[in-house]
Amino acid sequence: MSYLEATNDLYREAALTPDVGLCCTTNPIWELPGLKIPKIMQEMNYGCGSTVHARDLSNNPKMLYVGVGGGMELLQFSYFNRQKGGVVGVDVVDEMLEASRNNFKIAEAENDWFKSDFVELRKGDALNLPIEDNTIDVAAQNCLFNIFKEEDLKRAIEEMYRVLKPHGKLVMSDPTCEQEMNDTLRNDDRLRALCLSGSLPIEQYVKALTDVGFGTIEIRARKPYRILDPKNYPTDELIYIESIEVAAIKDPMPEDGPCVFTGKAAIYFGNEDYFDDNKGHVLLKNQPLAVCDKTAGALGSLGRDDIFISESTFHYDGGGCC
Ligand SMILES: C[S@@+](CC[C@H](N)C(=O)[O-])C[C@H]1O[C@@H](n2cnc3c(N)ncnc32)[C@H](O)[C@@H]1O
Repeated sequence: MSYLEATNDLYREAALTPDVGLCCTTNPIWELPGLKIPKIMQEMNYGCGSTVHARDLSNNPKMLYVGVGGGMELLQFSYFNRQKGGVVGVDVVDEMLEASRNNFKIAEAENDWFKSDFVELRKGDALNLPIEDNTIDVAAQNCLFNIFKEEDLKRAIEEMYRVLKPHGKLVMSDPTCEQEMNDTLRNDDRLRALCLSGSLPIEQYVKALTDVGFGTIEIRARKPYRILDPKNYPTDELIYIESIEVAAIKDPMPEDGPCVFTGKAAIYFGNEDYFDDNKGHVLLKNQPLAVCDKTAGALGSLGRDDIFISESTFHYDGGGCC
């Protein structure tokens, strides 16, 4: 059996019998006026962060969500969109599609603004999306892509890139890990399907996105996720896994490489009112400007004693240099 078949089996089970501890998101359940998340959706929250960010969702974007789980994030996206077929949900597991379909009916009974037909469910594979080219404004996946091995991950990202409109956004949450994992962990199909042993270091994860062509990357959050300890897992050392929330934007690739925002800021504190690097970046005196890592590097290399560059906070929330 391939690891992809093992993954399908695992999520077939998780669709038929909700498994509260399957993934360990540390995000509190969203509370918004008039939004009620049914209990069953909370029990089937198999994500590892949130892909729902209000500022991505103005002007009724056409949305795609790959790997639907119990449907909680599709309901949250619908809260902002409220249009028939406004959110298309794709999943490869029939039982998961059926479970989420039932959950949307419960959500409809509990939320007077929601109609099940706001979400259009389609059977399909992240590696071969049943979606036309250049038709989606915001695409999302939560805790699925980390399961994929290198070639499949590349394929899944290429598929998202293909279906997004120019300047469209891919919003994601996945576990990441900065430590080496041994081959026994890496090749354990069940641990991989459980989102425990496929995760990459952040730099590699970002590179997988920029290699496919996404010109702008935003790292929006970085949080503790899980521990793999020698008593319970085939590892000699304790392994610390985090989860991140990332947006990849289908902007053209700049000639000098992608703009990757990891939460750095530049502050000019010199004698003038502002500092202009004549490359499009104006730093007003004593006002932090969010900068991508490329701009942070370029400003740092000027060697000035009146510009401070902060470390990455991994909490970028908009604005800034590019
Ligand atoms: C870890 S769960 C995440 C579910 C949901 N995103 C959430 O946050 O609760 C992974 C989801 O991806 C689906 N899935 C697994 N392999 C897939 C594939 N190749 N293509 C599309 N969906 C897939 C599973 O059925 C399951 O719904």
